Amino acid sequence: MIPDEVRQRVAQLRAEIRYHDHRYYVLDDPEIPDAEYDRLFAELKALEAAYPELITADSPTQRVGGEPRPELGSVRHAIPMLSLDNAMDDPALAEFDRRIRTAFPALDPVLYTAEPKLDGLAVSLRYEQGVLVLAATRGDGTVGEDVTHNARTIPSIPLRLLGGDWPEILEVRGEVYMIRSGFERLNAELERRGERIFANPRNAAAGSLRQLDPRIAAQRPLRFCAYGWGELAAPPEPGQFAMMQRLASWGLPISPELRLVEGLEGCRAYFAELVNRRSTLDYEIDGVVFKLDRIDLQQALGATSHHPRWAIARKFPAQEVMTVVVAIEFQVGRTGALTPVARLQPVQVGGVTVARASLHNFDELKRKDVRVGDTVILRRAGEVIPEIVRVISERRPPAARPVEIPTRCPVCGSDVLYPPGEVIARCGAGLWCPAQRKETIRHFASRRALDIQGLGEKLIDRLVDLGWVREPADLYQLTREQLAGLERMGDKSAANLIAAIARSKETSLERLIYALGIRGVGETTARLLAKRFAGLAELMDAEAETLMQIEGIGPIVAAQIKGFLADPHNRAAIDRLIAAGIHWPESRALQPASLPLAGKTFVITGTLSRPRAAVKAKLESLGARVTDSISRQTAYLVAGASPGSKLAKAKSLGVRVLDEAGLEALIGRATGLSKADG
Ligand code: IVH
Repeated sequence: MIPDEVRQRVAQLRAEIRYHDHRYYVLDDPEIPDAEYDRLFAELKALEAAYPELITADSPTQRVGGEPRPELGSVRHAIPMLSLDNAMDDPALAEFDRRIRTAFPALDPVLYTAEPKLDGLAVSLRYEQGVLVLAATRGDGTVGEDVTHNARTIPSIPLRLLGGDWPEILEVRGEVYMIRSGFERLNAELERRGERIFANPRNAAAGSLRQLDPRIAAQRPLRFCAYGWGELAAPPEPGQFAMMQRLASWGLPISPELRLVEGLEGCRAYFAELVNRRSTLDYEIDGVVFKLDRIDLQQALGATSHHPRWAIARKFPAQEVMTVVVAIEFQVGRTGALTPVARLQPVQVGGVTVARASLHNFDELKRKDVRVGDTVILRRAGEVIPEIVRVISERRPPAARPVEIPTRCPVCGSDVLYPPGEVIARCGAGLWCPAQRKETIRHFASRRALDIQGLGEKLIDRLVDLGWVREPADLYQLTREQLAGLERMGDKSAANLIAAIARSKETSLERLIYALGIRGVGETTARLLAKRFAGLAELMDAEAETLMQIEGIGPIVAAQIKGFLADPHNRAAIDRLIAAGIHWPESRALQPASLPLAGKTFVITGTLSRPRAAVKAKLESLGARVTDSISRQTAYLVAGASPGSKLAKAKSLGVRVLDEAGLEALIGRATGLSKADG
């Protein structure tokens, strides 16, 4: 009795495999990676092996290769084009070698040919009297498609064989493939023309060779490499290797990597070498093919309906696999940059297990539109970091929603800054966010900032790891005893460091602004800001519009500064720095005294006809400072409609009060003045 689940699974696998066969062979547009297809196929084969009663003639396991394209004429192969048996790992290769040695115990040494397994499509070229008469794809192994019109356009396929010692009828078998660089150029060109691009060089090769119009194939960078033969009266050489040299002598391209190797050890060494060189080749290969060299022994071994018994493909680990996105997380880097990272159902790819893949930035995330629950193609080529190539949109769960960019830092909860035109979103609380601590302190103490000598990167790491320093102000709480207790820190260096930290309190406004580590604020911008504002308080209260009026500061940097200084955590950290005793020379002299309202403090209350920020910016552009609370130092209270308690307070302190008209008049006078001055 066959269990119902088995019947159902077999039916399901067959349906799935047929669907993928169609996408692969007919449409040249596979939906899933080869490795995934192989997995489905292997599962079906295993079930059919366990329950042979289930095998039907139309099962996908019962034929090799794919469906022909009906518009192309069909060709019956004189000798079937078989597939290859796969060895996925070293034990499977050893098993192949063992079978050969068991079959021929006296054979010593056992010689194999070794060559790359090219990732293209198999074709058979028929030469009669040395002239190319027919080119066919493998098709289902028995019947293929006539692609003679296209094969004739491939420069590496000779239309006429060289020399004269070729057999009257020669069927050459080999692979048509596309080199990587040609593939990339082709896809770029297709993209430019708004046409569908190819998933990989192999599909590009297949799609090009199976065109009806040979002018298209002629423009595609296709190549041919021979690896064997089909119909051939009598092989003129006793060995595969020597036969391949013969093919080469007739002008047929063979692999420059073709070698004759000895025994299992020779196979292993060749495989290891090619694994290493794989990424340096300009064409894709997915393994190494080993063939028993002696042609008489090949014939003695024969073939199954699927593959010859004398050859094996030792496959490389899959570079492209399929997996599911379990979550999308946001990592906060040392500089506050938020990086979207996909957490994946762990899979083996390129020989290692991968459970996460970076999506680099939000542009990339949007472009690839990766969502939680998506099935994706993951690629890891060579030593390269694993990458999500694309989403398999056919498998998207209906409920999957686009990922939203977080508005709060996942580490510290502060606002995320993502100014328009920026690719990278960042946590805005640089002085506070634990993810940025080490970098913030390192920058703060660096030579061009507060220049704390002796506070190197390693020491900062230790101080932060110990929890002694969480923000710059904490440096000023460190004691000599504390530091002296650290490993590899003598009493004297502790004392020196404490002295250096104390010395750093006396600095310049420019250095301090630079030391805060505001994005986009290098030394030059820090200098501009220090010149324009009397102190940190004025800078902290300034509107973005005011900042933009400074020559050299554009809207993006202005937004970065405003965002940074508006963050309550940053403001508190700056207050703590001032409280710790950081100071700089009184900077009245530095302030542009020429500005007409320099030194005047304004407070605004009530509703004005223009947005308050605009009024504030205007006043600031004239050198005024605009604050929130009234004191004796306040020069003017600007009172709009329904002013509230500030008006009473101003009156009680004797602060002058302006209505909107009065303000406009004052601004008019001030701008007139400044123009007259300038
Ligand atoms: S020999 C009778 N040698 O791999 C032996 N095949 O997975 C038939 N392939 O259909 C194949 N490079 O398209 C052989 N050096 C190579 C190959 C190679 C690529 C392809 C070929 C074949 C498929 C089987």
